[in-house]
Amino acid sequence: MACINNNFWVCDAKKSDVDAIDDILRSSLPDPLSKAMVVNELLSPLSRNLLLKVKETDSGEIIAGYLNYWVIVDEVHIQNLAVRKDMRRQGIASCLMSEMLVRTREEGVRRTTLEVRPSNNAALALYEKMGFKKAGVRRGYYADTKEDALILWAEMD
Ligand SMILES: CC(C)(COP(=O)(O)OP(=O)(O)OC[C@H]1O[C@@H](n2cnc3c(N)ncnc32)[C@H](O)[C@@H]1OP(=O)(O)O)[C@@H](O)C(=O)NCCC(=O)NCCS
Repeated sequence: MACINNNFWVCDAKKSDVDAIDDILRSSLPDPLSKAMVVNELLSPLSRNLLLKVKETDSGEIIAGYLNYWVIVDEVHIQNLAVRKDMRRQGIASCLMSEMLVRTREEGVRRTTLEVRPSNNAALALYEKMGFKKAGVRRGYYADTKEDALILWAEMD
């Protein structure tokens, strides 16, 4: 894939990555998964957990982004996506999403869906760029603010 090179690559998350995932989720989302929930995602047969890692000259590698999605028959349900604040607008979320699309096409997936806050302009712009379309609203979906969720779908053709 064009976005992956020797300094920038995607791999499956492991239990030893939970603390780094937790840091990204807590600094990115108003209602993040707990560490125990992240562990459950790593153990669930439905769930896939991708990391984007970046090579650092001094300190080895850092985890820059996390994408968690479920594969349900021929659909992907995106659950969590977050990129480290200091590494945004470098194509990391796009790279994770593209890798997810490549992997799930191989599994026979036809469609992808997710929920997003209408106030989340960055995520909405990303999803729109990736071909997602608004298909509905879940009223009061977010427990913290009672904000509605927009339901987006993308066809994988
Ligand atoms: C949304 C998020 C995952 C995007 O990650 P990212 O790595 O910065 O995204 P990318 O660099 O791949 O951006 C791809 C495109 O999305 C759009 N986009 C991303 N961030 C944007 C922003 N802050 N404002 C406007 N458009 C934005 C742009 O079209 C961008 O392309 P461009 O940089 O060429 O203009 C990141 O901002 C984040 O972690 N936010 C907090 C967590 C979150 O909201 N997760 C999604 C929950 S549904």
